[in-house]
Amino acid sequence: MKNNRRDFIKAGLLGGVAAATYPVLSHGSSHNSEGKEAMSGPLNILVLGGTGFIGPHMVREALRKGHSVTLFNRGRTNNTLFPDLETIIGDRNNGLDGLKGRKWDVVIDNSGYIPRHVEDSARLLSGNVGFYLFISTVSVYKDFKQPNHEDSPLATIEDETIEEVTGETYGALKVLCEQKARAEIGDDRYCVLRPTYIAGPGDGSDRFSYWTIRTARGGEMLWPGTPDHLVQIIDVRDLANFTIRCVDKHITGVYNTVNREGAYNMGKMLADAQAVTATEVDPVWVDDAFIAEHDAGANRGLPVYLPESGPDAMVFETSGARARAAGMHNRPERETARDLWTWWNTLPEERTAQPRAGLSAEREAELIALWKEKNA
Ligand SMILES: NC(=O)c1ccc[n+]([C@@H]2O[C@H](COP(=O)([O-])OP(=O)(O)OC[C@H]3O[C@@H](n4cnc5c(N)ncnc54)[C@H](OP(=O)(O)O)[C@@H]3O)[C@@H](O)[C@H]2O)c1
Repeated sequence: MKNNRRDFIKAGLLGGVAAATYPVLSHGSSHNSEGKEAMSGPLNILVLGGTGFIGPHMVREALRKGHSVTLFNRGRTNNTLFPDLETIIGDRNNGLDGLKGRKWDVVIDNSGYIPRHVEDSARLLSGNVGFYLFISTVSVYKDFKQPNHEDSPLATIEDETIEEVTGETYGALKVLCEQKARAEIGDDRYCVLRPTYIAGPGDGSDRFSYWTIRTARGGEMLWPGTPDHLVQIIDVRDLANFTIRCVDKHITGVYNTVNREGAYNMGKMLADAQAVTATEVDPVWVDDAFIAEHDAGANRGLPVYLPESGPDAMVFETSGARARAAGMHNRPERETARDLWTWWNTLPEERTAQPRAGLSAEREAELIALWKEKNA
């Protein structure tokens, strides 16, 4: 189980608004249809971690909405992506000097994994920003023996000073990150989004992407569980759009960002993958017990799959109702598969030769042979 959780994790307060007591820099404010105070006009947005996978989608959506964006990162990842934007080079680990004395309407914190880093940035920026949005994860929940909603019990860690982010510590450290930022910023201008597996163009993990990429090769293909086996993802564009909506509308509180619980499964994933790659495969469905026996530990190669029993049984039934009520839109998963497949085909061969997740062709053939032998 630990290994399943580790794989999932690597992947990795009710809303309400009080009067704006923060410095409003470039905009006025108005009341939205829910009677909440919304930010209006172009905003100055600081994105901590805007050049990885999810960040660029948020940056583009913010720019599309007419906002201006400043980036803060170390300059290691995709540093030529936004040549026209101001980039403040710095490190969340004791390297925040570039943020001192600067003011922004909004901070989007995409790169907070270590509580001390989040506390440091939130403390430094608190007096100089109007709104702080922290990207967390559904891995914050204590367990997944039941469907979780935003008020479900959260993971804890015995030693809160640990800074090593592993599959075992990730969720509990994100809980502490959420809490540190909240303590510095205050509920009236703080929003937390908790995504599940994020999927779509630009995903460097190849986890959800594997199923589409592999399908394109055709032939016999190992599929885990049954066609009814649940899967939950969030399209990176839907996450980005909801993020900017929260910013625009000053939506505070905590929101799971997931697609509709119970609505997507392995069978639909297979159908989508076949449709977007125009390839038929011959699926070989293998059960949870076989996978637990043969695809565990360091050999584990089936991304975005979790067994439907044990502590992670209901990961994929996390409720997204609160975010949907606040305006999150989920596009059809086929669109996610289609667009990631289009994106994948633009990548150089050295990148696509060996996907970063999933079974190798040899390992898959080995497992299918074992399964057939067992069921002969
Ligand atoms: N991917 C998923 O499925 C998933 C699921 C749930 C939640 N999340 C959450 O989504 C967030 C972002 O994910 P992602 O996949 O977009 O991450 P990512 O691709 O790794 O991007 C990280 C960004 O942060 C910057 N960064 C990293 N370390 C930094 C440091 N020490 N100081 C300053 N900047 C730093 C990077 O730029 P430089 O390298 O140039 O510094 C880059 O811009 C995380 O909070 C994660 O917990 C992800």
